[in-house]
Amino acid sequence: MMEQERLIWVAGLGLAYAGVCVAAWQQWRRSRRAASVAAPLLVAYASQSGQAEAVAQQSAATLQAAGLAVQCLPLAQLDVAALQQTSRLLLVVSTTGEGEPPDMARRFAANLATPAALGELQYAVLALGDRRYTPFCAFGHALDAWLAASGAQPLYPCLEVDALDDVVLATWQHQLAELAGLQDSALAAQPLLPAATPFASWRLQERRCLNEGSSGAATYHLALQPADGSVLPQWQSGDLVEVQVPAEPGRPREYSIASIPADGCLQLLVRVRVDEQGQPGLASQHLTCDLALGDTLSLRIRPHRRFRLADNATRPLILIGNGTGLAGLRSHLRARQQLAAPQPGWLLFGERQAVHDFYYRHELQALQQQGVLQHVDTAFSRDQPQRRYVQHVLAEQAERLQQWVADGAAIYVCGSLAGMASGVDAVLRQVLGEAALDELAAQGRYCRDVY
Ligand SMILES: Cc1cc2nc3c(=O)[nH]c(=O)nc-3n(C[C@H](O)[C@H](O)[C@H](O)COP(=O)(O)OP(=O)(O)OC[C@H]3O[C@@H](n4cnc5c(N)ncnc54)[C@H](O)[C@@H]3O)c2cc1C
Ligand SMILES: Cc1cc2nc3c(=O)[nH]c(=O)nc-3n(C[C@H](O)[C@H](O)[C@H](O)COP(=O)(O)O)c2cc1C
Repeated sequence: MMEQERLIWVAGLGLAYAGVCVAAWQQWRRSRRAASVAAPLLVAYASQSGQAEAVAQQSAATLQAAGLAVQCLPLAQLDVAALQQTSRLLLVVSTTGEGEPPDMARRFAANLATPAALGELQYAVLALGDRRYTPFCAFGHALDAWLAASGAQPLYPCLEVDALDDVVLATWQHQLAELAGLQDSALAAQPLLPAATPFASWRLQERRCLNEGSSGAATYHLALQPADGSVLPQWQSGDLVEVQVPAEPGRPREYSIASIPADGCLQLLVRVRVDEQGQPGLASQHLTCDLALGDTLSLRIRPHRRFRLADNATRPLILIGNGTGLAGLRSHLRARQQLAAPQPGWLLFGERQAVHDFYYRHELQALQQQGVLQHVDTAFSRDQPQRRYVQHVLAEQAERLQQWVADGAAIYVCGSLAGMASGVDAVLRQVLGEAALDELAAQGRYCRDVY
């Protein structure tokens, strides 16, 4: 009995001591955060399709409105020396490909191989990702681990955001409020993401199969108009649409827009996705088969800022893609066609067989005659015994590639991530050099819409 009482006392004292320690630690963290409220704050982002960028900019705006000195920069514009001059850093980064950094942050990511001396830095990471991909939020975690290994002190544990989960974004907002020395309620009214365009009803006006007789899955050209007859909304070449699938309204599917508003309708290039058991995918089946001409569907346009022409509008363009990837490239070609004297263009397109799968062949030939395209190189993988892909053509044209890049060209890649985009990336690295390609990505001259 005596022994038991003693044990209870000891356990009680231990718990009380632990409680005092936790309270003291929390007090210390609070005072440390409060003490540094006055220090300037850097919000840095790395984003592939614009979401992390939007969250970062809104976070910076929120802190600025609360009176803090804040700078918001792409990670591409930073190096270790810049971080050594920084006292507080908030990172908002996404993950792309299969656990890779966004293209714009590749050059910075090369730093992660070795720890730096960042003992003076306090930081927090908001890692955007999607649990359907593995590894989840890999780039955010890699940055977090590197900063910790470099001696930087976390202001908060790394936050993982699955598909822009509101609950986690609210936690981030709570942390921003704490850093700004504000009540949560003062920030709650400011959403971290700009309101997305609402879904609207669009009518299917035209649908054509582009690859009759193909050995691959059927691919269709679709044209759509606002169902209520209103004027077309504006978008830019390179943008995407999100389509609601009636059978699965919670998870919209993305499609690259193949037209520009001057075409008078929204055009898509959609391939039926079929799994190994022959089961078609929900959205692609709906768009290419279930939906009849004149039927409506719910979609919204999403700006894809990092795949727009933007500053590259006045540069020569190297457009590389396979299959439905031609959609995103075609919108850029349509935009170029509107110009009186467009800069040169070079298209590299890959599919299976020229006789069945050369989508928009006449249109591309016309663009060549008009001088919008100087070169159209194709790789039809099954037109010869040896498989031949777009990356092989690019490697054969190494000299031209170097010349075009030296002349200021921007490179746009659209289509399959596996096989095409990775193969093209390997050739670009080999021909242009690793550092030069990362530099092009950081400058926004290497842009990818790959899936
Ligand atoms: C940025 C971007 C741009 C894109 N642009 C285009 C474009 O221009 N054109 C285009 O055609 N596509 C494009 N895509 C792909 C497109 O978004 C869809 O992923 C594609 O159409 C397949 O969607 P789905 O609904 O038909 O298939 P899903 O229903 O999502 O299914 C995909 C595959 O998984 C299988 N599957 C579904 N559910 C399960 C399950 N529970 N378990 C196991 N397997 C399952 C399906 O049978 C199918 O093979 C793009 C994607 C991205 C991210
Ligand atoms: C082609 C593609 C690949 C992706 N790969 C990953 C991944 O490997 N891991 C992950 O957690 N999320 C992955 N995602 C999800 C994105 O990180 C997520 O959608 C994020 O919100 C995008 O932010 P961004 O627009 O700033 O790039 C991927 C998304 C796409 C479209």
